[in-house]
Amino acid sequence: MGRVEGKVALVTGAAQGLGLAISRRLVAEGAKVVMTDINADGVRAQAERINAVQAGRAVGLAQDVTDERRWQNVVRETGEIFEGLHILVNNAGIGFTGTVEQTSYADWQRLHRVDLDSVFLGCKYAIPMMRACGGGAIVNISSIAGIIAGHNLAAYNSAKAAVGHLSKSIALGCARDGSNIRCNSVHPVFIDTPILDELVGTAERSEALARLARQIPLGRVGDPDDVAWAVLYLASDESKFVTGAELRVDGGISAM
Ligand code: NAI
Repeated sequence: MGRVEGKVALVTGAAQGLGLAISRRLVAEGAKVVMTDINADGVRAQAERINAVQAGRAVGLAQDVTDERRWQNVVRETGEIFEGLHILVNNAGIGFTGTVEQTSYADWQRLHRVDLDSVFLGCKYAIPMMRACGGGAIVNISSIAGIIAGHNLAAYNSAKAAVGHLSKSIALGCARDGSNIRCNSVHPVFIDTPILDELVGTAERSEALARLARQIPLGRVGDPDDVAWAVLYLASDESKFVTGAELRVDGGISAM
């Protein structure tokens, strides 16, 4: 308990899946969290569920992470609501399969806007406020698909690899300017959230997850909490000498 006590966090894509698990974990460890999502009703409802247990610790805001003006306002609103910003988790993302030939240019651009441009915008507008608060930690959710390519993940591989490298550039920039802001990326393998629905297809979910699990040395797909614990470490002062790192939460798959 208390590993991020007194800190203010902003988590995108927090209406479900990893963003929700990360928000809950940060609150459980003492943070106040602004949760945002394009699913405005969903994220507000999840924030209220958290507040029902720990009053005043979460706020749900509508945000399309591809909207530059909205990013500026969300960062400002976070500062007004909880008086600061110390942790940014760029988590919102989409995924779909397809080779280069199968992917339309419009879909390529859409995926890069949601999965990559959002990370650029979030960091761009959060860093000044984090610096004004004495520093902080940025955690960008990439994917193991940003490190290991797949035959039919052209757009997703591209965007997630770029998130990893962008995170290193941000880490070095912040280290150089002495702003006491660290930036790291997290690279999960398959985690059981709705984003897997396309991969699961029409198959029975448990059978499809078992099929995915056979590729993973630890023999299972991940739980959202497996990622949340990793994010907590990178968000907390326990990782105060860790920046520009790629933390793989992948059941060992990239060790093969
Ligand atoms: P999910 O589909 O369950 O949740 C994604 C959330 O992002 C949803 O609440 C959705 O409404 C929100 N979102 C989508 N577009 C948005 C936009 N334009 N603006 C704001 N919010 C938006 O997916 P999951 O699994 O929780 O994924 C979270 C992150 O983790 C993504 O970046 C994903 O690429 C990454 N990831 C997920 C893995 C998995 O197997 N679940 C594995 C590796 C990475």
